[in-house]
Amino acid sequence: MIISANGCAFHVEDFGQGLAVLCIHGFPLNGQLWQPVVEQLAGNNRFIVPDLRGLGRSTATPQATMADYADDLAAILEACGVTAPVVVMGLSMGGYIAFEFYRRHGERVRAMVFADTRPEADTPEKRADRQVKAERVLQEGSRYMADLMLDSLFGPAAPPALRFAWHGIMSSNDPTGVAAALGAMAGRNDSVELLSSIKEPALVIVGEHDAITPPEVHREMCAKLPAGKLVEIPGAGHMTPVEDSAAFASALGSFLSAPA
Ligand code: MLT
Repeated sequence: MIISANGCAFHVEDFGQGLAVLCIHGFPLNGQLWQPVVEQLAGNNRFIVPDLRGLGRSTATPQATMADYADDLAAILEACGVTAPVVVMGLSMGGYIAFEFYRRHGERVRAMVFADTRPEADTPEKRADRQVKAERVLQEGSRYMADLMLDSLFGPAAPPALRFAWHGIMSSNDPTGVAAALGAMAGRNDSVELLSSIKEPALVIVGEHDAITPPEVHREMCAKLPAGKLVEIPGAGHMTPVEDSAAFASALGSFLSAPA
């Protein structure tokens, strides 16, 4: 369905019944990231799966911030009629947004899932690099980013068909939205200090071969979360929900059956 909010039109899937899980995809991906996991768990839970502002089929704006994404998600929950606290699940950039959502809309959170992400803000070098990439994307199109990221996204065992499919998805994004997301990531808050204040149950998931946000980052993050639980998915890279959806769904399903 299409939800209009905050001056954008959002493509949102609302699937299943039960405790709601807000699923926040990474960069430069879209809500399809969650499909194979949601399919396995929709008998017990409701999944709200948006395409973020400027990615997938949602409207792009020339600039975006983590606060914009977080407020968009709160508006989407509102439009879906979800009033009870939800499980907020984010992968990579989706995790950065989940931290901001917690800061701005913490009363809406029942539990958190951090997948293949990190709490630290960008270094000055990384910020400058994002700026260069944003300019290249605007000049050359989204395929520039797809070519650049493909190898680092997947573990060594990921089938070529999966890589091919995601290369296509990444290439078809609106370059304006991709560039805006690079700016939003560069400007994000550091969330390391926030970790100790997240008292709600938190599941931390990482692929064994995640080259973008490695397992060690997740071990450290989990140790700082008061109610954190770590699951490492053998063989997978950064794209755990599509590389091993059965392992991801199994970890998430157990967590959701007793999140608090
Ligand atoms: C992502 O997977 O969302 C991004 O690669 C994260 C990042 O660039 O920091």
